[in-house]
Amino acid sequence: MGNIRALKGFKDIFEDEIEKHRRVEAAARKYLHCFGFKEIEVPLLERTELFARGIGESTDIVEKEMFTFTDKGGDSVSLRPEATAGVVRAYIQHGLYEREKVTKLFTVGHMFRYERPQRGRLREFRQINVEVFGVKEPLIEAELIFMNSLILKELGIEDYKIEINSVGCEMCRVRFVNVLRDYLRDKKPALCEDCQRRLERSPLRIFDCKKESCGTIIGGAPLISESLCTECRTHLERLAYSLSALSIEYVLNPRLVRGLDYYTRTVFEVSSDRLGAQKAFIAGGRYDSLVGLLGGPPVPGVGFAIGIERTSLLLPPLQAKRGPLFFFASVGENARGYLYPLLRGFAVRGIPLTFSYEEKSLKAQMRYADSLGADVVMILGEEEIERQVVVLRDMHKGQQMEVRLDVDTILRAAISLRERNFFDFSPGDVLNKTE
Ligand code: HAM
Repeated sequence: MGNIRALKGFKDIFEDEIEKHRRVEAAARKYLHCFGFKEIEVPLLERTELFARGIGESTDIVEKEMFTFTDKGGDSVSLRPEATAGVVRAYIQHGLYEREKVTKLFTVGHMFRYERPQRGRLREFRQINVEVFGVKEPLIEAELIFMNSLILKELGIEDYKIEINSVGCEMCRVRFVNVLRDYLRDKKPALCEDCQRRLERSPLRIFDCKKESCGTIIGGAPLISESLCTECRTHLERLAYSLSALSIEYVLNPRLVRGLDYYTRTVFEVSSDRLGAQKAFIAGGRYDSLVGLLGGPPVPGVGFAIGIERTSLLLPPLQAKRGPLFFFASVGENARGYLYPLLRGFAVRGIPLTFSYEEKSLKAQMRYADSLGADVVMILGEEEIERQVVVLRDMHKGQQMEVRLDVDTILRAAISLRERNFFDFSPGDVLNKTE
C-alpha cells in the first residue's frame, strides 16, 4: 500500500504559511475589535437545507460544490461552504435580534467547496467572516469597506482594487431579469451549456461566466444599474458618498455580480491582479431578505468574508523577528546537570533554550546547534566547571566570552545579548573575552 496523502484541494499548513495566516487573522481581529465586533463560532456541519435555502438552490455552490452526505440518522447534512447562512441561523435561533438593535459578529474558520483546485482555490479554505445585523443605512457598507482598507494597510498590502455595485432589491431584479432574458433569447445557442441553463434558472449568474464566447455576448448585455428603482439607486449613491467621505478609492463596476443568491443592493469585492485567475480575496454585500427567508424577523444584514489563503498570498515575505537563539552544550555528567536550572531559568523568562536531548560529543553538539540556527552556544565542560565559568560563543562572528558559572549571571548575560547586538557590548559580568 502506498503512502496516504491529503485529499486533493486539502492542504497541510505549516512554517511560513501558517505564520502568514496568523498575521492576517491578527490584523483582522485588531480592527474587528476596534469596530465593536464580537466573535461567534458556528458548526462546520449543518442541515443541507440551510445552505440550499440560504445560498440558493440554483447556485453553483449548492448545485455542485457542497460536501453533502446522509448521517446515520438519515438526515442530509453538509460541510459549510460559507459561514453567513450558519451565522444567520444562530442569530435567529438564539433570538439575538431581541438583545440589541445592531449586532456585529465575526467568525474565523474552515469552509468546504468541491471546486477544481488551483492557485488560491482549495476545497478546504479559511475565511474571516463578518456580519452586521440591523442596519439599513449604506453607511454600514462604507464602514465595512473602510475597515477592510485598514486591515490591508496593517498587512502592508497596497495593490488592490475595491469594486462595488448594486444588484438591486427583489423588485429591481424581477424587472432586470426580464430585460436580460429578452436580450439573450436569440443569442442562447451561442452561450455555453452552463449559461444556457442559467438563462432559465438564474440569469444574473451569466455575468459570472469566465468563458470568452459568453464574455462577448455579456459585454453587450443591459446592466442592472439601468433597472434600479429609485430607493436602490439612492442607496448606491449614498454609499458612494460615504466611501468618498472616508477617502476610500473604489470603482463602480456595473457588471459585478456574486455567486450567492442572498444579496440585495450592495455587493463588493476586493481583488488583486497578483492573484491570477482567482483575483477576489475579500467579498461581500448586503442581504436584507436572508434573515426573514430563514425564518427570522425582517432584519437587514450586511457582511463580507476575507479569504485567508488568498490574502496570505499577497503578504510580503516574512522577516524573521526573533532574538538570538541560545544552545546549551555540555560535556560530562556534572556539566549536564546544569541543564536543569538553566532550562527552568530561561523558560520562566520566556527565552527559548535549545540543547541536544541525547548526550553527544561537543563536536556533534556544535554541529547540531549550527543546524538549528543557534546564535549563541553556551559551552560547559569539566574544565569550565573547575574555573567556575561558562563559555558563550557567538556563532556568527566566532567570538567567545566567558561569564561566571551562576544561573542568574548567565541569564543576565543572555538578556543583555537579546537586547543588544550580541557581543558588541561589555557587560560587567564578562570575565574574559577571547577572539
Ligand atoms: P465568497 O465570495 O464566496 O463569499 O467568498 C469570500 C472569499 O473567500 C473569496 O473572496 C475568497 O478569498 C475566499 N474563497 C472562496 N472560495 C474559495 C476557495 N475555493 N478557495 C480559497 N478561497 C476561497 C462568501 O463566502 C460570503 N459568505 C461572504 C459574505 C459574508 N457575504 C456576506 N457576508
